[in-house]
Amino acid sequence: MPEQESSVNLDFLGDLRRTHNCGELRRSDAGNRAVLMGWVHRRRDLGGVIFIHLRDREGETQVVFRADLDAEVHRKAELLRPEYVIAVEGVVRERSEDTVNPKMPTGEIEVYADRLWILNDSRTPPFPMEDSVEVSEDVRLKYRFIDLRRPRMQRNVILRSRISFAIRQNMYAQGFHEIETPFLTRSTPEGARDYLVPSRLQPGHFYALPQSPQLFKQLLMIAGYERYFQLVRCFRDEDLRADRQPEFTQLDVEMSFVQPDRIFEVIEPVMKAACEVAGFEVQTPFRRMSYAEAMRNYGTDKPDLRFPPFYDVTDLMKPTGLTRDGLPMVAVKIPAVGQLTGKQRGDLRAFGESLGLKVFDNVRKLGEKNPAEIGAVRERCEAGPDDALLLATWAGKPRRWRPEQAVYEACGTLRVHAAQTYNERHKLLDPARFELLWVVDFPMFEWDEDEERWVAAHHPFTSVHDDDLDKLVTDPAACRAKSYDLVMNGVELGSGSIRIHRRDVQSKVFAALGFTPEEAQRRFGFLLRALEYGAPPHGGIALGLDRLVMLLAGENSIREVIPFPKTAKATDLMCEAPSEVSERQLRELGLMLRR
Ligand code: AMO
Repeated sequence: MPEQESSVNLDFLGDLRRTHNCGELRRSDAGNRAVLMGWVHRRRDLGGVIFIHLRDREGETQVVFRADLDAEVHRKAELLRPEYVIAVEGVVRERSEDTVNPKMPTGEIEVYADRLWILNDSRTPPFPMEDSVEVSEDVRLKYRFIDLRRPRMQRNVILRSRISFAIRQNMYAQGFHEIETPFLTRSTPEGARDYLVPSRLQPGHFYALPQSPQLFKQLLMIAGYERYFQLVRCFRDEDLRADRQPEFTQLDVEMSFVQPDRIFEVIEPVMKAACEVAGFEVQTPFRRMSYAEAMRNYGTDKPDLRFPPFYDVTDLMKPTGLTRDGLPMVAVKIPAVGQLTGKQRGDLRAFGESLGLKVFDNVRKLGEKNPAEIGAVRERCEAGPDDALLLATWAGKPRRWRPEQAVYEACGTLRVHAAQTYNERHKLLDPARFELLWVVDFPMFEWDEDEERWVAAHHPFTSVHDDDLDKLVTDPAACRAKSYDLVMNGVELGSGSIRIHRRDVQSKVFAALGFTPEEAQRRFGFLLRALEYGAPPHGGIALGLDRLVMLLAGENSIREVIPFPKTAKATDLMCEAPSEVSERQLRELGLMLRR
């Protein structure tokens, strides 16, 4: 757009100061003078009287310009348009009974302005400042500086700041120090691709931006700091979703001489304090559930406990001949939705089929043929007359690796889908209820079907259960890790583990993961060396701050709680990053582009 000269004469701020913010004035201020500053939020011109709502971070105040009281200021106020930045001075007046606005905290007063400074003008914004106006996300992100003025974003960003502050206070009170770790570093494996930064001084060499400060926090333990935390930015080049961004913030924690219980004791009050900032009460200690139980009853390692589990009913359904050898049959209960229509059942069945399931959606009909079996199923599920049931097993060729798990996982997805589908009408997922739990005893390794090798279920620095140490080489599948996740309403909020602090064990785990000693030395030599110099037993956790704030703000995407987020294609629409760079910059870095 062409640059425009301002159409109005702009005033200087000079040494003018605010006396109040726009959310502050009350009836008791009536008769006093006030100086307010902010943005013109709304403007009503009734001829001889102009009303504006003046907005700042704290709220809105109605300002009145009356031609009969001050013709000159009134004439100037005619120039005002939405989002102009102004200062006004005037007298606070009590509103008459019939004009009091009970929806505004300042609704009992208005300011009769006798001075007006126009500090800046504004183009007409691409969208109004009201939350109620739906705007496409692309436009919101392109004009993020305007989007951030809207009440919802102001609330979210300020909530985030207050939560961060509460976390820091709580961590310091528990004897932790916040210690910074580098951003220009080398790759740490957290399962995603690295963002690389070319080195100018060593052409052909690259830094990696940290996927997490994992190794540095372990080194800080080896260095004797005992209790470390950091609210820290992490970078991961991975496929983006509503709860993933390429750069995100963790509350990263590490402690020496601890077992998982101690980590839980530290994190629970921090979570409680964070929830209190947002006005929610949570009970401690949090519930604990083994990974095996979570998979068996919820089909996921991040169960949403606001909604009932599913039930393995293979034994009960065997006599019907509908079960399949070696595969479970699962009953999914959708509570309190009443009897579903054929169309609703068909939709759920189609969704289940898209996951590879065979779904029996007409359980009532099945019950006519198999009354005893379905009766027993209803009893196991504690299904009342108002609860809908679906039965499911695997449809096609069973997966080779843990085929029963595939059924559980698909049923877990179906369960959540059903809850979301009927949530609006039946309030199955109350956003003001927070169900927190620790999932413990994860397997140490997972089988990667594509690569046909074991990969670390958490990361390669995680300690194996003391009892499973001997199985590292002989039976990796049976090894349990000393790792844990914190789950909140079906969202993985955090992950952590007790780490390997012995050089010999770390080498064994690298070997189990298929690293040759040379490769382990090349990638993690500095860690292996440090483990030889008195590494204490230690462990920790990292919580996703963006996800925590998202849940507490009642949002569905972390983009709503990050001031300047990226799109699903990892672009910043406002500053148009990533962008091309000049030939000179490339040359300096010793880089040439393949086109
Ligand atoms: P992990 O990789 O599980 O563990 O990450 C910890 C938490 O960080 C959040 N998170 C993300 N949030 C937004 N966008 C992303 N792309 C993203 N990726 C992860 C999640 C997740 O639970 N070093 C280990 C922790 C440890 O062992 O102490 C780690 O980073 O909420």
